[in-house]
Amino acid sequence: MTKTILITGSTDGIGLLTAKKLAVDGHKVLLHGRSAPKLEAAAAAVGGDVETYSADLSDLTAVRELAASVRAKHHKLDVLINNAGVLKAPQTVLANGQDIRFVVNTLAPYLLTELLLPVIPTEGRVVNLSSAAQASVNIKAMQGNVPLADMEAYAQSKLAITIWTQDWPKSRANAPVMIAINPGSLLASKMVKEGFGVAGNDMSIGADILIDAALGERFADASGAYFDNDSGTFANPHAAALDKGHVADVMNTIRGLTNHTG
Ligand SMILES: NC(=O)c1ccc[n+]([C@@H]2O[C@H](COP(=O)([O-])OP(=O)(O)OC[C@H]3O[C@@H](n4cnc5c(N)ncnc54)[C@H](OP(=O)(O)O)[C@@H]3O)[C@@H](O)[C@H]2O)c1
Repeated sequence: MTKTILITGSTDGIGLLTAKKLAVDGHKVLLHGRSAPKLEAAAAAVGGDVETYSADLSDLTAVRELAASVRAKHHKLDVLINNAGVLKAPQTVLANGQDIRFVVNTLAPYLLTELLLPVIPTEGRVVNLSSAAQASVNIKAMQGNVPLADMEAYAQSKLAITIWTQDWPKSRANAPVMIAINPGSLLASKMVKEGFGVAGNDMSIGADILIDAALGERFADASGAYFDNDSGTFANPHAAALDKGHVADVMNTIRGLTNHTG
């Protein structure tokens, strides 16, 4: 059966490739990006029955507007793939003092998911992009009070989304399945080419696992799990995700910064 699937950050990289593959299989893909020309180009490249949504996820007001736009057109969203992410940026500290990595990679997907939850059915899925790069979260840095180097901020933001994914189903009955995925390391996207100066591995490695997580049977009972596509298995995330105090601090900070208790 064909599904309606929103992929954030589907103007480039793994998200764009995932959108192309899903569209070929007949799914209705909702493309998201922050650049109107790139969205237009992505829609032309993906083809099929696509819609486009523009929002800069470094602005939580834009995230709220994105959720409202999607809900205005859809009473049911089968899958949300929180794929958009950033490692390096020309300006890493936003006007409000927060680090762009925490906002785009952790807070925006949390808020978007909470706001779209009423239209995601119980049998639906939320797929969150994690990474092999994970590090304990410096709460003060997440709040914007301590500057971090690019990789530190990125790795902390990726553990934070993984912690949220793991914690989320514990307080939810009859909720969609939520999974955190490391799509594979050093896949040949713009992020990897610009960030590490390497050509990178086939992006299909990442796109195919996202599609499996979104639709495949083996993820149907995996809510809260972390899947590491470097090893091809469900795995434990960074040890800090098992520290109850750390998890509580991260979750309280996410809720506070998004002004959304969930
Ligand atoms: N590539 C890898 O090896 C790898 C490994 C582990 C995890 N990941 C994760 O996989 C996801 C996809 O990354 P990728 O490698 O495909 O990188 P990418 O090619 O740079 O694509 C990132 C996507 O996110 C969008 N985006 C970035 N900042 C945004 C913002 N402020 N507002 C809205 N959209 C924004 C980008 O939009 P533009 O097109 O406008 O730039 C692009 O569509 C990320 O979450 C990344 O952390 C990737």
